[in-house]
Amino acid sequence: MVLLGFFLRIITLVLSLTLTQLVDGFQSRMLMSNGLALTPQMGWNSWNHFQCNINETLIKQTADAMVSSGLSAKGYKYINIDDCWGELKRDSQGNMVAKASTFPSGIKALSDYVHSKGLKLGIYSDAGTLTCSKTMPGSLGYEEQDAKTFAEWGIDYLKYDNCENKGISPKERYPKMSKALINSGRSIFFSMCEWGQDDPATWAGDIGNSWRTTGDIQDNWNSMTSIADLNDRWASYARPGSWNDPDMLEVGNGGMTKEEYRSHFSIWALAKAPLLIGCDLRSMNKDTFELLSNKEVIAVNQDKLGIQGKKIKKEGDLEVWAGPLSKKRVAVILWNRGSLPANITARWAEIGLDSSATVNARDLWAHSTHSGVKKQLSALVEPHACKMYTLTRSKA
Ligand code: GAL
Repeated sequence: MVLLGFFLRIITLVLSLTLTQLVDGFQSRMLMSNGLALTPQMGWNSWNHFQCNINETLIKQTADAMVSSGLSAKGYKYINIDDCWGELKRDSQGNMVAKASTFPSGIKALSDYVHSKGLKLGIYSDAGTLTCSKTMPGSLGYEEQDAKTFAEWGIDYLKYDNCENKGISPKERYPKMSKALINSGRSIFFSMCEWGQDDPATWAGDIGNSWRTTGDIQDNWNSMTSIADLNDRWASYARPGSWNDPDMLEVGNGGMTKEEYRSHFSIWALAKAPLLIGCDLRSMNKDTFELLSNKEVIAVNQDKLGIQGKKIKKEGDLEVWAGPLSKKRVAVILWNRGSLPANITARWAEIGLDSSATVNARDLWAHSTHSGVKKQLSALVEPHACKMYTLTRSKA
C-alpha cells in the first residue's frame, strides 16, 4: 500500500512537470507568434548611406527605385526608415510625432504610398529614453502606446535600438516591445538591435524575428570580415522565424572593391543574414545591381530549410564556408581573405557529403555548372574574392 502511494505520487509529479513544461513552451511560442521571417528579411534601410539626412521624398523615391530597378521582384520588400524621423518631443497625449520639417505628410501617408507600390514600411525606435542620435524619444515605458501608433500608421517592421537604456537588462526591455507589437493588432516584424551585447541569440528566439550580433558595420573590408566572424559564432541559434543579424549591407556605398562586396553579399546570403540594402538605390551603378540582384545567391539566403551556413575550415587566409540547403543540396563558399591568388579546396567530408557522392556544382556567380564532380571542389580564388556554389547530388 505504502509502495503504491509512493508510485502514485511519483506519477502525479511527472505528469504535472510535463504539463508545466508544455504550458511554458506554449507561452514562449506564443510570444513570437507573429509568423513572420520564415526566411530572412529582405529590403532597404536608410542608415548606412544617409544616417540622419532623411525625408519623405527620399523614402518615396527609394520605394520607386526598388520597384523600377527590378529589385523588389527579386524579393526585397521592406523600406525601412532608421533613426531621426521624429520630433524630439511627444505630443500632449504622449504620442510620437513625425518630424514636421522632413516628414510633413506624416508616416501614415508614407506607408500608404509604400504599400501602393507593393512594398512594406519599416520604422525605428529605441528601448531607452532617447534614440541613438538623441534627436527623438525612445519607447522605454511607452511600449504599448508606441506599438499602437505604429500599427495605426500601417507600419510593418520595427528596428529597436539600445541607446539610453538606463542600465536595465535587455532581457526586460525587449520582451515588452515584442509583446506590445503582438498585441498591436497588426503583424509587425520585430528586429532587435541590441548589438549582441547580452548574447541575444541565446534568449531572443521567441522574442525577436532577428537580433543584431555585433556593433555597427563600417564600409570597409576589415569591419565586414570581422563582423562575419563574430556573427558566425551564433550560427546554431538561427532558425525560421528568428535570425542572427550581422548588420545591414554596405554593397554599393563605395568603400570596398567589387570582389570585396561580392564576398560580403555571398557570406551574408550563406549565413542567412537579413539582406537589407544600405546604399542609395536611386543612383546605384551596374556592378551594385549585378551583385544585389543575383537570384541564385538570394535563393541560398531564402532557402526553406533555414539553416545558417558557417565557416567550416580555415587555413591561414583561405576559408571554406558551407551549409545545408533543402533537397539535400549544399551551399559552399571558397573565400580568399589573403592578398595573393590561391587554390582553395572543400572536401566532401568537411561539408557534410558522403565521400562517394558525385555532384553537380553550380557556380552561382559565373552561372555555369560543372557536372560529375567527385570527392572535392577546388578553385583558384583571387585576393579578397570568393566563389560560391550550390552542390546537387547526381541521380546516378
Ligand atoms: C545604432 C545602430 C545603427 C543605427 C544607429 C542610429 O545603434 O546600431 O544601425 O540604427 O544606431 O542612430
